[in-house]
Amino acid sequence: MRVAIVWGSNTGQTEEAAGRLKELLSLETSLDVSRASPEEILGYDVVIIGASTWDIGELQYDWEDRLPELEELDWSGRHVAFFGTGDGLTYDDTFVDAFGLIWERIKDKGAMLVGLWPTEGYRFADSASLTEDRTHFLGLPLDNDNEAHLTEERLVAWATKLKGELAALAPSAAEAAPPAG
Ligand SMILES: Cc1cc2nc3c(=O)[nH]c(=O)nc-3n(C[C@H](O)[C@H](O)[C@H](O)COP(=O)(O)O)c2cc1C
Repeated sequence: MRVAIVWGSNTGQTEEAAGRLKELLSLETSLDVSRASPEEILGYDVVIIGASTWDIGELQYDWEDRLPELEELDWSGRHVAFFGTGDGLTYDDTFVDAFGLIWERIKDKGAMLVGLWPTEGYRFADSASLTEDRTHFLGLPLDNDNEAHLTEERLVAWATKLKGELAALAPSAAEAAPPAG
């Protein structure tokens, strides 16, 4: 399975998390969404999307620029996971909205979601990035503005969960593309 992190970050917080996740997941590829073409991004079986939230519930700027192209493409067979930094105290009603904003625009294009994460332990009031039953985020929120001391342990725990989920997907990927000969 080809796996890549694709991140967008205004002040470097989500970029830093992307770097750490790349190590934790032993990945070769981490792409800046402002420099990667949509076709390059869709060349991966698993796209781990890093996106922060800005301007009270708005997308990080490079994702805003790139999404119109990405949402036109066929995401069939691609798995998607989300992570990103936000601020659950100052922007408590729009905490890490970016995951939900992106997911809304690609979920009907065939993408499948992995890497859900429990809301337990987070300080926030509302988010566009919750499951219907509000028990989980659509990905991993990090809050370096208020809870930076929790970031490393959250990254490690989520990376472990995601690795397990991706390992469980691997047999079906192998079936889809049997070795030549
Ligand atoms: C003007 C402004 C608006 C913001 N709006 C939100 C928001 O709606 N939701 C949220 O979770 N964080 C919000 N943030 C916090 C940033 O997302 C947070 O600082 C994040 O770590 C930035 O990550 P980046 O450097 O990867 O872009 C906002 C920050 C600023 C300065």
